[in-house]
Amino acid sequence: MDLKLKNKVVLITGGARGIGKAIGTCMAEEGAIVVLNDLDAVALKEAVGALVEAGYAATGICGDVADPQCVARMFSEMEETFGRVDILINNVGINHDVMLMDLSYEQWKKELAVNLDAMFLTSKAVVPLMAGAKHPVILNGGSFACFMPALGYGCYAAGKAAVESFTKSLCGELAEKGIRVAGYAPGVTNTDINRELFAHEGARMCRQIPLNRVAEPEEIARVVVFLASEAASYVAGCMVRIDGGKLCVQNADRLRG
Ligand SMILES: NC(=O)c1ccc[n+]([C@@H]2O[C@H](COP(=O)([O-])OP(=O)(O)OC[C@H]3O[C@@H](n4cnc5c(N)ncnc54)[C@H](O)[C@@H]3O)[C@@H](O)[C@H]2O)c1
Repeated sequence: MDLKLKNKVVLITGGARGIGKAIGTCMAEEGAIVVLNDLDAVALKEAVGALVEAGYAATGICGDVADPQCVARMFSEMEETFGRVDILINNVGINHDVMLMDLSYEQWKKELAVNLDAMFLTSKAVVPLMAGAKHPVILNGGSFACFMPALGYGCYAAGKAAVESFTKSLCGELAEKGIRVAGYAPGVTNTDINRELFAHEGARMCRQIPLNRVAEPEEIARVVVFLASEAASYVAGCMVRIDGGKLCVQNADRLRG
């Protein structure tokens, strides 16, 4: 299937590692012009360098997407360089594995700023740049935590649940401008964000997933790329779950000892 992503300008926030990096690679393989944003200059240089070395069109914009000034600068650079954005992937996210009584207000605010405020800032800033785009799309990265919180991740779940709600609102508001908005909810995925958790609880986490394993970033990326394409032209306003069946039964581990 031709996903018709050739020469589309795609901006991916938090794109130097994990799922965002995999989305960038998958987009580049489809012929898109990939712009990765990340806070980590070293990881960003590496990720962009790998794409360019493989012969793809890619560039990076370093900065904190939870910072309004940084977001303004990022979109003015996009305007100057490309004159438009065709696809925005609001991928960035962080988490703190901390129970309520140990979670500081600073941690709470920081996590919501990256997981939610950044989505507001980039989605608002991208709208004028999508005026010149054909079939523009905004995709918002949620999580299975949108639907089912976990102990120690109360702030994360609150922010991700809000992503689902915000995605619905944006879908309704931006449809009039010809911008299609949807979301996706990855399940547990093999990335740095939960490296420590896997080390201690990986086997237990797998048993609770019907497919009995975590996702590789590429397995999330392939679905995201499809959702961003015209092949998914009627998918809007929902969170597409990519979670190995994680939320379909309560006790997937029952037959696994
Ligand atoms: N890995 C999982 O199990 C999983 C599950 C569900 C949802 N998600 C979501 O998928 C998204 C990507 O997760 P991941 O596992 O690839 O994470 P990751 O930690 O591997 O990568 C996230 C990237 O975002 C960058 N970043 C962090 N704060 C930033 C900021 N303020 N501005 C710009 N860049 C910033 C980091 O430097 C890093 O390169 C997140 O929104 C996460 O919540 C992940």
